[in-house]
Amino acid sequence: MKVLVIGGGGREHSLAWKLSQSPQIKDLYVIPGNGGTAEIAENVDISLNEIVKLADFAKEKKIDYTVVGPEAPLVSGIVDEFEKRGLNIFGPSQNASIIEGSKVYAKRFMKKYEIPTAEFKVANTPEEAKELIKKEVFKFPYVIKADGLAAGKGSIIVKNKKEAETAIEDLMIKKKFGSAGDKVVFEEFLEGKETSYMVFSDGKRAFPIVTSKDYKRLENEDKGPNTGGMGAISPSPYIDYDLIKDIHRKIVMPTIYGMAQESRMFKGVLYPGLMLTKEGPKVLEYNCRFGDPETQAIMLRLKTDLLEIIDGIQHNTLKDMTIDWSMEPSACVVLVSGGYPGKYEKGKEIFGLKRAKMIEGVQIFHAGTKKVNGKVYTNGGRVLNICATAPSLDKVMEKIYSAISFISFEGMFFRTDIGMEKKE
Ligand code: AMP
Ligand code: GLY
Repeated sequence: MKVLVIGGGGREHSLAWKLSQSPQIKDLYVIPGNGGTAEIAENVDISLNEIVKLADFAKEKKIDYTVVGPEAPLVSGIVDEFEKRGLNIFGPSQNASIIEGSKVYAKRFMKKYEIPTAEFKVANTPEEAKELIKKEVFKFPYVIKADGLAAGKGSIIVKNKKEAETAIEDLMIKKKFGSAGDKVVFEEFLEGKETSYMVFSDGKRAFPIVTSKDYKRLENEDKGPNTGGMGAISPSPYIDYDLIKDIHRKIVMPTIYGMAQESRMFKGVLYPGLMLTKEGPKVLEYNCRFGDPETQAIMLRLKTDLLEIIDGIQHNTLKDMTIDWSMEPSACVVLVSGGYPGKYEKGKEIFGLKRAKMIEGVQIFHAGTKKVNGKVYTNGGRVLNICATAPSLDKVMEKIYSAISFISFEGMFFRTDIGMEKKE
């Protein structure tokens, strides 16, 4: 079989790595890929905005399955374009991806299907937003969110009136994230522990993926700015079996049912970001895809052939299969370029990868890297994902941090507290 992975981050490297172990796969392509995927697949340089060109490529190469990593092509309708042309592709349709593509849609959907989430108000214009600020609809702090996709940067926690006004100015008037800020959602601030939860969905049923938690802030102890993710661990330290049942009953199943009711049948990975509040789990946002960097940790625990799972969803046979997971925990620490998530330089040579990879149980997934003449250079903000699995989380972290001690590039930065939260 010929398989194509869409995306160029650590998530896509880990998906490609897992798929490369499938005995059924002969040819593996990644668009655009990175320095790591170049070692296990053929990287192809096509812009992810060019959905028609992506489908042309898949058609020409007779790709049997395409797996989509990032949200933007899903929200732009890549699945519909591929399916229109008779190509198998894993991910939700454009219709269903709206659950991530529009926060206004997601909030109204949750209200309709009584799925627990923060109280909210929608502003369709800057005037409406200013009115909401004036009326003090929620007490400070509260959250103002751009309706559309903003690469994870569209949610702003505001502590006072001035900050709320600046958020509206940035999102709705200066259009910092373009049309994503045409509308905004005002949301009550939720207190609690934040965690990820993902399932495979065939449109009717949910098949649990092992739990995980990501670390969004740049610095130790969750300080500093929000990032695309500085690390992840699996399982999540906050979710036990009873809570999984609760999340399925109150959130996952009503979501899958509701989407089907709305003629937006959700096939793919459904990933609600959750706040575990005193009143129970509440949805912070929906994602319509695998999480990054959670997937890098999770793929290390997946024993079943990923292609079989994807094929099972496509052909409605996943319900007859069991998905096997390793009981051993895993984690991922992200190495970033100096200055990230702000401005950073690219093109720094990376040293020590070979030595780091030799540690048993360690797996390195590339993100922003580029391979030139056998040497690996930085090519983005998040550069490398150092992952491992071992019998205990302490051992996992020991392996990861000793692997990191061999790696260096100018400006390299990472958190040193991943996987080290105190047990409750
Ligand atoms: P979102 O873009 O909705 O995922 O929000 C980004 C981050 O902002 C989340 O991961 C949370 O850490 C935080 N956040 C979003 N909504 C809320 C909320 N209602 N209460 C508290 N924190 C929130
Ligand atoms: N880990 C956060 C995300 O994938 O959106």
